[in-house]
Amino acid sequence: MQKITVNQQRLWDSLMQMGEIGGTEKGGVCRLALTDLDKQGRDLFVRWCKEAGCSIRIDKMGNIFARRAGTDDSLPPVVMGSHLDTQPTGGKFDGIYGVLSGLEVIRSLNDQGIETRAPIEASVWTNEEGSRFPPAMVASGVFAGVFDLEYGLSRADLDGKTMGEELARIGYAGPDDVGGRPFKAFFEAHIEQGPILEDEDKQIGVVTDAQGQRWYEITLTGQESHAGPTPMTRRRDALVGAARLIDAVNRIGMDNQPNACATVGLVQVFPNSRNVIPGQVFFTVDFRHPDADVLSGMDQALRELADRVSGELGLEMKFEQIWYSPPVPFDTACVNSVRQAAESFGYSHRDIVSGAGHDACYISRVAPTSMVFVPCENGISHNEAENAKAEDLAAGCNVLLQAVLERAND
Ligand code: GLV
Ligand code: MN
Ligand code: MN
Ligand code: MN
Repeated sequence: MQKITVNQQRLWDSLMQMGEIGGTEKGGVCRLALTDLDKQGRDLFVRWCKEAGCSIRIDKMGNIFARRAGTDDSLPPVVMGSHLDTQPTGGKFDGIYGVLSGLEVIRSLNDQGIETRAPIEASVWTNEEGSRFPPAMVASGVFAGVFDLEYGLSRADLDGKTMGEELARIGYAGPDDVGGRPFKAFFEAHIEQGPILEDEDKQIGVVTDAQGQRWYEITLTGQESHAGPTPMTRRRDALVGAARLIDAVNRIGMDNQPNACATVGLVQVFPNSRNVIPGQVFFTVDFRHPDADVLSGMDQALRELADRVSGELGLEMKFEQIWYSPPVPFDTACVNSVRQAAESFGYSHRDIVSGAGHDACYISRVAPTSMVFVPCENGISHNEAENAKAEDLAAGCNVLLQAVLERAND
């Protein structure tokens, strides 16, 4: 039997068109969650889905579901999707590929007049990145019952604006309850965001697991004073404390190889003036590992070092773990569907553990879930240079289509 395939050019063109919304000079995208640009991206997705004959539902967290009816529409849907928000210096593919490959599956089924027994849906999850509103994956987390709605809506950016206010402002505070309805299965297509598939010349990553994450916020407070008259022996320099801890974070990552990742990505220095000894520093820590025990050892090491450094330098410390997302094993049957779909097309593939967080991690708590990875150029993501090949993106989308068809018709 002739295999159904997606339209590679249309998928690529849609990615490029979406990439113009918030497009940067360097060819990347800055479309932070719940900004005017995010609204424009959402509006475009909704318009395309309506043109493809879908009905649209939006929930109170702003998650969007575009539904193509099944022949038995009372069945739970098979859902595909990811996110449209980006990092401040993000690319055209992280998240967006998973959203638009869902739409491409629907468009291809339409082209070929193929009906499915269960309905299928393409989804957009709000604020996956957690860059503007920490933590990451917050709206899929509310959907999965990991967070309650008030927690989700009250997440605030550095200016104190909340997700609830910003959802209302851009017109995406939907009427639907968040979660509480079953999915037959959930599939998320995504670029790998790392170098493994490209290095090994594999076209498809069959994602078996995602590593765990712990996010922290640390504030060190010392004393602001004059950079000239204050002797070195009389200082309580919060930035010196932060510098020692930033180095310690990196060392904890190095001490837990292979697989540990440890990053300080955001630092704010107060008052940030060249001739004032910094009185306060706020910074974040992102720890990741596929093994929950190793991750908790890293947590322990960080707490001990933070106590020691702040004590030695006479700094006050506010130390908060703001998020823990445990390692995720994906559903064996869904993982097998992805592997078999890759095999049926003759695509080179390998099993892979996701280094990044994804909405699929939380959805896996309430629905059988797995992911499809495709290579990205030089393994680079969270970077304006992010790039992927049209044929790899189409191959991943074909795998998605095949896995979805199998689930929706079983
Ligand atoms: C989100 O992109 C994450 O994995 O940090
Ligand atoms: Mn992503
Ligand atoms: Mn991302
Ligand atoms: Mn992510």
